[in-house]
Amino acid sequence: MCGIVGIIGREPVAARLVEALKRLEYRGYDSAGIATLEGGHLERRRAEGKLRNLAARLEREPLLGHVGIGHTRWATHGKPTENNAHPHSSVRLSVVHNGIIENFRELREELTARGHVFVSETDTEVVAHLVTDEMNAGKSPRDAVAAALPRLRGAFALGFVFEGEPDLLIAARQGAPLAVGYGEGEMFLGSDALALAPFTDSITYLEDGDWAVLTRDGVEFFDALNAPVMRARIRTQASAFLIDKGNHRHFMAKEIHEQPEVVGRTLAHYLDMSNGCVRLPFELPFDAAKLTRLTIVACGTAYYAGLVAKYWFERFARIPVEIDVASEFRYREPPLDASGLTIVVSQSGETADTLACLRYAKEQGQKTLAVVNVPTSTIAREADTMALTLAGPEIGVASTKAFTCQLSVLACLAIAIGHARGTLSLEREGELVSQLIAVPGLMAEAIKREPRIEQIATVLSKAKDVLYLGRGASFPLAMEGALKLKEISYIHAEGYAAGELKHGPIALIDENMPVIVIAPHDAVYEKTVSNMQEVAARGGRIILIADKRAADEAAIDFEAIAPMPEMEPDFAPIVYAVPAQMLAYHTAVVMGKDVDQPRNLAKSVTVE
Ligand code: F6R
Repeated sequence: MCGIVGIIGREPVAARLVEALKRLEYRGYDSAGIATLEGGHLERRRAEGKLRNLAARLEREPLLGHVGIGHTRWATHGKPTENNAHPHSSVRLSVVHNGIIENFRELREELTARGHVFVSETDTEVVAHLVTDEMNAGKSPRDAVAAALPRLRGAFALGFVFEGEPDLLIAARQGAPLAVGYGEGEMFLGSDALALAPFTDSITYLEDGDWAVLTRDGVEFFDALNAPVMRARIRTQASAFLIDKGNHRHFMAKEIHEQPEVVGRTLAHYLDMSNGCVRLPFELPFDAAKLTRLTIVACGTAYYAGLVAKYWFERFARIPVEIDVASEFRYREPPLDASGLTIVVSQSGETADTLACLRYAKEQGQKTLAVVNVPTSTIAREADTMALTLAGPEIGVASTKAFTCQLSVLACLAIAIGHARGTLSLEREGELVSQLIAVPGLMAEAIKREPRIEQIATVLSKAKDVLYLGRGASFPLAMEGALKLKEISYIHAEGYAAGELKHGPIALIDENMPVIVIAPHDAVYEKTVSNMQEVAARGGRIILIADKRAADEAAIDFEAIAPMPEMEPDFAPIVYAVPAQMLAYHTAVVMGKDVDQPRNLAKSVTVE
């Protein structure tokens, strides 16, 4: 969840380390720090809070070294104080770390008994002392790292610089992503290619268990058994301009507005628009006719995308679907047989729990398919089949465009599997494809209604609690709407199936609690109207997200209506996601919250 970077250059590297960290801040922003080697000695600067605090500190107290490492932190062990900020140092080295060292307590006891003095509460500090201990026994930095790595349990990506070693940077990867970048007489290290995009587009991703020795002239890779290995050097497409906010105030706003384009691009990848059918850009890794069960696993917003897709797979492909959040699934030991398929959904492709589920499914002999946004990610590489979402880099911590692109890919998959199983007539398939083709235009229409959403956000910003309701495929969207609202505005919000209201949550309804109802004009619309009447009868304040026809038919005195374009209902969740996202966004803006970097969160959750 943290971001790490490293540079061996020919001039001072501090400014570029900060620039790279800026591009990794989406991974965590509790504290930041860098260390560089000056006159043979390691000097570091660290600061609590956002990267700008570190940048300000560096202006007052510059670092001039030509080799250095940097870190932006999402705290796991120890409070987000300056003292717990990375890099962590010993007398011989500095280290930055992303991940968790699970056996840090026992290592710390062992090293303390041997005279090492610990000054932070972090798990990372044991790595500094463990490698130092090996160096104290006479080993070179590279031999010391090689000896220390097998003793570490957990998931980690590490970057080291050493006292008196101006042409050396060592990196290691076990379960957390890490890339080496190539420059002209300089080398780079980063948690992802995006961090290194301003400096190079030539990258090698370390494999699990790998470690690497970087000098100005190149890099050597070693596997977990310390044998030298070759790793492919690839060109990335993570160009520098892609993380620009454009004309928008926040990345989240930009990403909401990009949706018609990126959803269109994603659909074009999976649809044969001229023949009105789905054309997958890969072979399905299974015989769809013989498929007995689908299992979908993901976390957070990606999980809600899977939950929406369950409705589609069951309806279009007539296949039973089991879905669970990855952190539960991985420890449930669910039986999976070879006639099933596991689909994992992940924007980053690095989420630790989702990755563990993918590996579990493979161990059980299942075929696996990953719906991912980062094609070079671990999940993308390990799944039997990768179904790419073409959302482009998503920087806002609250997921928006990745969600609607995930829905678009899953919709295409449901149609394709339905086709292969013979559960969709050609005519119905053609109708569904036409509906999908209309989706980007409808999203653009929904975005045009933003001024109305801004007015509703002013009302919502005064609420302490909010209830989100939906039926059918709008139920998972209600949960996603509630998640968006809580994560960026910090307003307590719950998403419920509208029909569940009377089984408990209706007790919460009073004149203070806004109830947002997502109500496309679909087969269960009348049932949703009954539920809204139950709320209205108890003095509840209803904010309706619906088209004009649906709003008129309901004949209820709504507090506000977020107007939607009229559409066929099958893929309404993709279009209705837009007002839910905009409501959360504008509420957070009215309340003056930090939209792109909400407290306690990080974009990529590479720890379990
Ligand atoms: C919420 C959000 C998270 C992620 C979740 C999974 O806005 O972004 O809930 O959806 O952490 O992340 P990925 O999709 O990268 O596996």
